[in-house]
Amino acid sequence: MSSIEIKPQVYWVGAVDWAVRAFHGHTYTTQRGTTYNSYLIRDEKIALVDTVYRPFAREMIEHISTVVDPAKIDYVIANHVEIDHSGGLPMLMKLCPKAKVVGTQKCRDGLFKHYYENWDFQIVKTGDSIKLGKRTLKFIEAPMIHWPDSMFTYCPEEQLLMPNDAFGQHLASSERFADQVDQCALWEEAKKYYANILWPLGTVISRKIEEVVKMNLEVSVIAPSHGLIWRRNPMQIVQQYAAWAKQETSAAAVIVYETMWKATEKMARRIAEGISDAGVPVKVYNIAEADRTEVIADMLQAKGFLFGSSTHDNDMLPAIAGFLELVKGFKPRNRLVSAFGSYGWAGGAVKEIEEAVKEAGMEVSLPPLSFRFVPDQTELQKCFLFGRSFGELLK
Ligand code: FEO
Repeated sequence: MSSIEIKPQVYWVGAVDWAVRAFHGHTYTTQRGTTYNSYLIRDEKIALVDTVYRPFAREMIEHISTVVDPAKIDYVIANHVEIDHSGGLPMLMKLCPKAKVVGTQKCRDGLFKHYYENWDFQIVKTGDSIKLGKRTLKFIEAPMIHWPDSMFTYCPEEQLLMPNDAFGQHLASSERFADQVDQCALWEEAKKYYANILWPLGTVISRKIEEVVKMNLEVSVIAPSHGLIWRRNPMQIVQQYAAWAKQETSAAAVIVYETMWKATEKMARRIAEGISDAGVPVKVYNIAEADRTEVIADMLQAKGFLFGSSTHDNDMLPAIAGFLELVKGFKPRNRLVSAFGSYGWAGGAVKEIEEAVKEAGMEVSLPPLSFRFVPDQTELQKCFLFGRSFGELLK
């Protein structure tokens, strides 16, 4: 794969990471790999917008070299400090030491705390711009989408928005444009990305979308820093972000449980049958085995969550405890929630789940259900009815 012209004199010069399966440490599983997108703009002055993760820096430089000599780069725009976009800076800056690095004040601070280099840095804020020749780069600060340093870069002459992490997907592909790939995979990854990275930031995102809409920018291409570039009806991803940011939900349930000897699992399965009997779609995950990233994506628009655990040492099991800690960070709103689980002598898991749910800012909407040891037929029927009641609440 080489450089690709995405607009006149604007080139994708990033890298495709087909192999990565764990992102952000292990908080995000990238089953379809990812890309690190850098964009080169060739005009009287030459600018590079974002770099790539350090292991791909050489590849990025090779791609740049197919268009221009990297030594001729005048500006390196750093929309975001995180290393998947700034990791290529040290190697690149050795080739163009006189280039200015451009970003927000927080970006400068953050880059210094990563690389300890005194690059010539130009601090910009919303409304500032740089004239390249026929083309201009305008900057829009976007703090907490998704780091304090984050920024969007906009080229009005090409109607091109480069919003860094916003509107991306972790999806490796030999294609570069969103309309060229399988649409199910594309939207699945866009949703997974929003749910796992941006869910807690909905209020900030809504405000930023309103602010950018008021700017009346003409946008014909949205080129994010991960995944495919939106060129056909690019505003569709913005509209979808606006809906996700409002935490709009539908009548659907996600059951997430962990089980020691399968008694809690029996309960989960019967509860799911009850929810389904009420006409509500339901997904069931054993969190000790499931892909956490997918579970979070399924939870994004589901109105109902049920969390289950066997009791172990008076507490819930560790995988569900860790998962609930993660959910707490997402601050889900407008949800109906309850708990269930089996115990041996002293129950405790269900109570712990209830507390975790409250800490996550949610209310328990249906009294939890717990049974001693293995549920019998009568107790399983209670599970079914519990599920059906929960399903009716969701409708
Ligand atoms: Fe916030 Fe893709 O890094």
